[in-house]
Formats: sequence, C-alpha cells, structure tokens
Amino acid sequence: MKELIDLSNLPQHIAVIMDGNGRWAKRQGAARVFGHRNAIKAVREATEGCAELGIKHLTLYTFSTENWGRPKFEIDALMQLLVHTIRAEIPTLTENNVRLTTIGDTTSLPRACRAELEEAIQLTEGNTGLNLILALSYSGKWDIVEATKKLAQQVKNGTLTPDQIDEDLFNQALATEGIANVDLMIRTGGDHRISNFMLWQLAYAELYVINDVFWPDFRKPHLWEAILTYQGRERRFGKISEQLVK
Ligand code: IPE
Ligand code: IPE
Ligand code: MG
Repeated sequence: MKELIDLSNLPQHIAVIMDGNGRWAKRQGAARVFGHRNAIKAVREATEGCAELGIKHLTLYTFSTENWGRPKFEIDALMQLLVHTIRAEIPTLTENNVRLTTIGDTTSLPRACRAELEEAIQLTEGNTGLNLILALSYSGKWDIVEATKKLAQQVKNGTLTPDQIDEDLFNQALATEGIANVDLMIRTGGDHRISNFMLWQLAYAELYVINDVFWPDFRKPHLWEAILTYQGRERRFGKISEQLVK
C-alpha cells in the first residue's frame, strides 16, 4: 500500500490525536495505565513511518491541558512513562534522523520530565529529517491566549501597532512558529472531535478519524491509509473545483 503513495503530494504536517489507550486496556480487563504503556510501539510506528516517507512535521497530542484533571495516579504514571520513554528512544530518533521538539506549557511538567525533554531536544537538535513535535500540557486555547499575550506585550512596548497584527504575525506568535499549518489530522479511537488540539493550525486540515482502532494498535499501514485518503481529497480552500490547478 505504501508504494501507492504519491511522494510529490505528501502532507507537510501531520498531527495525531492518539486516543483510546484506556479503552484498549479496559477491553482486555486491564488498568488504563496498561494501555498507555502499550502506546509506545504505536508512537514509534507513526514516527518511523513519517520519517521513511520524508514528512516534514509530525505533531503528537501527548498530554492536553485538560488531561491535568485526570486522577493523580494516572497523571503520575503518564509522566513516569514519558521520562523513561524519551530516554530510551533517543538512539532510535537519531538513527532515523529525527529532531525532537515540544509545544505546550512544559513548565508545568515535573522537573524530571523537563530535564529528560531538554536533553533529548539538545541531543537531536542537529538531526535534519522529520521534526517530531510532542504537544505536552498543550491546548489550542492555551496557545492562542499565549500568542495574544506576546503580541499585547509588543504593543505595550511600542514595537508593534494593533494595525500591524495580521494572520502571518499571529502565526509567528503561536507555539508552532515557523512550522507549516496542519495538512492532515488523524484521530484514533472513533471520537469525531478536536478536543482543544491545535485550533488555529487545524483551520484547513483534512480530518481523518479511525473508528475501529485504538491508539495502541496503530501501525504503519494505518498511516499509509490515512495519507492515501488525504491524497484522494480535493482541498479547495474556499474556491471552486474548476479554479484549482490540477
Ligand atoms: C489517549 O488515550 C492518551 C491520553 C489522553 C494521554 P486515553 O487515555 O484518552 O484513552 P481513552 O480515550 O480513555 O480510551
Ligand atoms: C485528547 O484525548 C488528548 C490526547 C490525546 C493527549 P482525550 O481523551 O483527553 O480527549 P476527550 O476528553 O475524549 O475529548
Ligand atoms: Mg481519550
């Protein structure tokens, strides 16, 4: 199936809502945390798959602002898992020429988590392939509010006038500064919603929900299928079909 993908028409930026870990575990009578632990293989598959194809940016919704409202036990387990996984994955990331970055309010993460992240970011900084962006303690509304604060501060300092604020400038004030907006958004687990993910950046993304797969079961063929579906869609950006350059 991979060979059917048109390499000249790849999405530049793929974003994934990795959903369904808890239900995956529950289905087999296990605790939710078991699902999170089994999600790592899927993360690896998505990352490797994107790297293999030459996708530029992959954003993974790893922990949302709202997820802080989960039971403490689950949050602690997720943070611990994050620390261990990042440490263990650095060699594989480098092997695949993947650069790791994050978006979100990382100052709210436990110190150990932040330290691991900073180290991984530094160690992979020179990699020139896929840009893997972990959305951690992230939400779309948070991103927009932070961007607004930055711009307001510049207006206050006198380096910017309100008239100068346009979409380009706003784009640059977001956590995804310098990164193309999302072309393809994949959600596993069957829920048809955005869950406060990248609200601005998803404005014209093609949405692809996988109804019958929970995140721990996500594998490369699911990614190929999503990209093939994306390539079959007509992206009109408000225009009519006849205006598009084929
Ligand atoms: C996604 O799986 C992982 C995170 C949100 C951290 P869930 O934990 O939301 O699993 P479900 O949706 O409850 O099955
Ligand atoms: C979205 O999943 C957040 C992540 C995948 C990190 P949730 O499971 O938190 O979303 P809702 O609560 O079902 O909307
Ligand atoms: Mg969920």
